[in-house]
Amino acid sequence: MHTVVLIPGDGIGPEVSTAVRRVLTAANAPIGFVERHAGEAALDRGLEDVLPSETVAAIREHHVALKGPCTTPVGRGFSSVNVALRKKLNLYAAVRPFRSLPGVKTRYEDVDLIVIRENTEGLYSGIENLITDGVVVSMKVATRGACHRISHWAFRYATHRRRAKITIFHKANIMKMSDGMLLDEARKVHERDYPNIDYSEVIVDAGHMRLVQNPKQFDIILCENLYGDIVSDLCAGLIGGLGVSPGANIGEEDAVFEAVHGSAPDIAGQGVANPLALLMSSVMLLNHLAETRHDEACRKAAERIRTAYDRALDDGQKTRDLGGELGTAAFTDSVIARLPAG
Ligand code: NAI
Repeated sequence: MHTVVLIPGDGIGPEVSTAVRRVLTAANAPIGFVERHAGEAALDRGLEDVLPSETVAAIREHHVALKGPCTTPVGRGFSSVNVALRKKLNLYAAVRPFRSLPGVKTRYEDVDLIVIRENTEGLYSGIENLITDGVVVSMKVATRGACHRISHWAFRYATHRRRAKITIFHKANIMKMSDGMLLDEARKVHERDYPNIDYSEVIVDAGHMRLVQNPKQFDIILCENLYGDIVSDLCAGLIGGLGVSPGANIGEEDAVFEAVHGSAPDIAGQGVANPLALLMSSVMLLNHLAETRHDEACRKAAERIRTAYDRALDDGQKTRDLGGELGTAAFTDSVIARLPAG
């Protein structure tokens, strides 16, 4: 059994994490959860902070977490728990796969994209200064070390996954020094270590236009932090939305798996959220355990769960966001009913 830290999070987080836990149990995934809290949920429980030290300590101890979304107030209040967690644990690579799903009709077929996002720097440094009344400066941070690290990680990932092509989305025509540094490092890593992987550079705004015109022209998209955030939601829109878009935040020691979506306050508590994005993130988690701890049982559980949700969707079992009528629990039942025999 592998111990995984489960952080239910805020809004729809507890609903979708309960659903995922049910599927993992039904699939006999070799995982035991310890529950810890973050976000407003932590404050509601009387913990000292939105990112309590006991939550961070548990991830450091067990090295893997499955995390629900945490709310961040807009334009006021505490800063993002999600950003803080990624920085604290040095989870520098965000990986977000976007693939077309059986039975989920969108404008495109056979989309198969991966966004790799630098997760610790850029405008997410959170350094904002009031210079004088009416003038604010927001700092975009880029360090050569982090640019090299994410470039290397992306090329290594592409090689392991047998992906042919990496495209960087950048704005180095304007941000010549910061985005320019990422291009510098990516070019060096490509030329020196991975010349067999096709590498190209596209200005981020043109890249977004090309994505909606023809997503199949891209394979892996590598970005600094903010562009990675924005392009992720665009890619989610190509395959059915935020309810079906999973993700992982990976560092040298620890990995936190979470959906791309947020706490969805507009539907929280109604029992209608799509648990698939977090379920797909849990499949990524199982595959991560299979790779890093050489445990075939994890790989098998991941495969069975993936088969079950593909079958459910193919049979027209869908939540509201995908045009169906099922609530969170009923959709979860339909996935469990389709798990192949173990
Ligand atoms: P959001 O992703 O929570 O919601 C955007 C829209 O997508 C809403 O209409 C929502 O109902 C829908 N949606 C999202 N997930 C869904 C699901 N699983 N099933 C069905 N519909 C779903 O983005 P929003 O509203 O911009 O942010 C809400 C809060 O979440 C904010 O406080 C934000 O900071 C936080 N957030 C947290 C993230 C994290 O914890 N990693 C990521 C993104 C946002």
